[in-house]
Amino acid sequence: DDHDHHDGKDDHELRVSKIRDGTVIDHVRGGQALNVLAILGIDGNEGEEVSIGMNVPSDRFARKDIVKVEGRELSQDEVDVLSLIAPDATINIVREYEVIEKHRVERPPAVDGVLTCPNPACISTGDEPVTSRFEVLEEGVRCSYCGTIVRDEIASLIET
Ligand code: CTP
Ligand code: ZN
Repeated sequence: DDHDHHDGKDDHELRVSKIRDGTVIDHVRGGQALNVLAILGIDGNEGEEVSIGMNVPSDRFARKDIVKVEGRELSQDEVDVLSLIAPDATINIVREYEVIEKHRVERPPAVDGVLTCPNPACISTGDEPVTSRFEVLEEGVRCSYCGTIVRDEIASLIET
């Protein structure tokens, strides 16, 4: 155990081992890992091979979460929603233990059909066939139909 360095990288690598093929979602805001799993629809019941580090030391932030999913790549829709709860996340695609692709998530100007408005009176939540639409703000999202702003509980709006 090396207590002399101030770079958390070695620490968390001891904690969450490398994967062979799949996706590493790194630099997730501390505490958001379970919401990342919710966005990816991972509940463990389909036998998904997933490793999670929560609140592990990081050189970029004080603490970060990290999610490693074996045998899976993410769709652009999934990455778009991830960007809302993990705006600084890095998506790493791993093949044969090597990172072959790395990119930062980008916050899209708006997301369609992925979040449900929490306002029961909103036209997008009624019987009408209206696809939800949220504009992405600096902090949070705003329903394009009723103007409701959600800042902290974005993950709870994810359509299932
Ligand atoms: N990783 C993994 N399995 C692999 C390769 C990499 O789980 N076979 C993880 C690493 O542990 C790291 C992330 O994927 O958390 C990115 O790997 P890498 O680019 O090698 O690390 P860094 O250079 O530290 O990445 P960054 O600069 O984005 O922080
Ligand atoms: Zn609304």
